[in-house]
Amino acid sequence: MNYLTKVILTASAIITATSVLAEGAKSLDHAEKATDNRKAVFSLLGSNMGPLGAMAKGKIPLDAKVVEKNALRINQLSMMIADYTKTDTSAFKVKTAALDKIWQQPEAFTKRINALSKASAHLQVAAKSGDESEIKKAISGVGKSCGGCHDDFKAD
Ligand code: HEC
Repeated sequence: MNYLTKVILTASAIITATSVLAEGAKSLDHAEKATDNRKAVFSLLGSNMGPLGAMAKGKIPLDAKVVEKNALRINQLSMMIADYTKTDTSAFKVKTAALDKIWQQPEAFTKRINALSKASAHLQVAAKSGDESEIKKAISGVGKSCGGCHDDFKAD
């Protein structure tokens, strides 16, 4: 894809990403709802990333149109992470893999969110180029940004 498109996509990803401002859950019910919504965002990220990972590994044929669509969705979902993780549920017993560090180290967490926004914007550009090796590299870039955040902020 052309340079301008790349600049616009990357710039919009950076501008739209917001920092995480934690606020404590007010009740167990509130904490459970916030946890459900938080997991829903990540679950959709997983569902959109699944086929792309399989394509990068050559398990299913590479389809640039699917890559472009899912990369757009992943980028949009990345914009929701800050809002859907801002409720600090750590004071309540909820079933979650989210580590308390999310609310203790908001700047580091925000960096991880922004890395996903950028990598998914880049993947959209690569998908439009149709260049198979570029697309695979860009998919793996997205995968690394998922894994990077999981290493720091998600329980195994
Ligand atoms: C900014 C940090 C961050 C990024 C980036 C991130 N994740 Fe996660 N992910 C988490 C956290 C935290 C949880 C645990 C959520 C919970 O259990 O409340 C999680 C949970 C998940 C889950 C389990 C959801 C469920 O139903 O419980 C899946 C699947 C997942 N992530 C996939 C992905 C994929 C795929 C990507 C990249 C496209 C990604 N994540 C990017 C932090 C991140």
